[in-house]
Amino acid sequence: MSEKKSIHGHWSNAFVFVLAAVGSAVGLGNIWKFPYITGEYGGGAFVLIYLVCILLIGIPVMMAEIAIGRRGRQSPINTMRDLASEENKSPLWQYMGWGGVLAGFLILSYYSVIAGWTLSYVFKAASGTFDGADASLVGDVFANLTGNPEILTGWHTLFMVLTMMVVARGVRGGLEKAVTLLMPALFALLLVMVGYAANSGGFEEGLNFLFHIDFNEFFYACDVVDGAQRCEFTGTPLLTALGHAFFTLSLGMGAIMVYGSYMPKNYSITKATFIIAGADTVVALLAGMAIFPIVFANGLAPGSGPGLIFQTLPIAFGNMAGGQFFGTLFFILLAFAAWSSAISLVEPGVAWLVENKGYSRVKATTVIGVSCWILGLGTVFSFNLWSSADYQLFGKTLFDLLDYLTANIMLPLGGLLIAIFATWVMKKESISDELSMQSGFSLWYFVTRFITPVAIAIVFLNAIGVI
Ligand code: PHE
Repeated sequence: MSEKKSIHGHWSNAFVFVLAAVGSAVGLGNIWKFPYITGEYGGGAFVLIYLVCILLIGIPVMMAEIAIGRRGRQSPINTMRDLASEENKSPLWQYMGWGGVLAGFLILSYYSVIAGWTLSYVFKAASGTFDGADASLVGDVFANLTGNPEILTGWHTLFMVLTMMVVARGVRGGLEKAVTLLMPALFALLLVMVGYAANSGGFEEGLNFLFHIDFNEFFYACDVVDGAQRCEFTGTPLLTALGHAFFTLSLGMGAIMVYGSYMPKNYSITKATFIIAGADTVVALLAGMAIFPIVFANGLAPGSGPGLIFQTLPIAFGNMAGGQFFGTLFFILLAFAAWSSAISLVEPGVAWLVENKGYSRVKATTVIGVSCWILGLGTVFSFNLWSSADYQLFGKTLFDLLDYLTANIMLPLGGLLIAIFATWVMKKESISDELSMQSGFSLWYFVTRFITPVAIAIVFLNAIGVI
């Protein structure tokens, strides 16, 4: 078979693919979400399960997703349709691509709102709001921000516009340069933060929380209320850990697939996958090591939810030497990390509109961006106008529902289908040809064909109470 080319162009070299994929993977998921869900699910045991999910499920699925993308060289929808037809299988597989486009759309709608918080914190840090701050001041600053729908909408709008500007121009021009510089800078700054945390008085307790494995705390969240210990079932810890493995690696919705479709043929997918997953995991663990010591040193609750990093890190910035500078820089870099992830959330949909509807990139981006912005207002209101029980379903706000639906259901389901597609639908020769692994193919094939799908199925059954 002669090699296909993507009509959207290719990365200038394989290393750029790795950088862009790291840019997609490393984002709010690592620095905002990982610490707060780890806090909610009691620490070490959650971290362990999450790492197992990365290894047994995330890595094999990522290899499959990149390989499928590179073989199809089109938007995920058309790639799935054509690869299925090449294997004489049902065209219905293209609906998996549709599911991915929808998931990316739903995720971006709330991702942009949280990224907007980050933008707003750039200015707060720069203007000295956090000088000498303690937990109560930082808590008030956060509550004032999230309680104000107009301001939140403003930041959400700004972030969406920034994202759409890059997507409209094609991801390769701006993104390549940005990720080369900014990812290493973010990494270095996280090390500075861990250094601060190491001297904050809560380091041992923080590390203990992060790495001490206690399955009781995984399933039950305990609090001391009026002198008595009260424990509550935490919901769906396994599913949350699995879902987060997908979310943090940008898997299961076509982002990595579409990036793979712009990847040069001669680069090792295995190597790329290990670099991406490795970098992503290290960033998440560093974020945890920077945040939990501050949580404990200041008597904050690890399970305090989505505001966790916004209520902890500013205390550190407010009290460390050069904190105003480091704080500003940190939120700038976090905003960049979010931005390089956001871009990959819309790329599958944009690529499809360009391929199938003949839209220009600008038109495709505008259509998706504006609709996504509108849906994002639902997340904005989830923190203020619609935060009360009257506006909740199953005790969840619209933001919680979107997060649960996408990260815990749609992405793992997408991942399950990708694993099945690569190892049951595609012929063994086709996938082995695309992966062209020098060694380890049989192991990958076995894990992806049997272990990964069974593991995902078990976690789903566990979540609905069957196991
Ligand atoms: N991986 C990104 C993060 O951790 C989020 C993301 C999910 C991006 C799915 C693309 C696809 O922030």
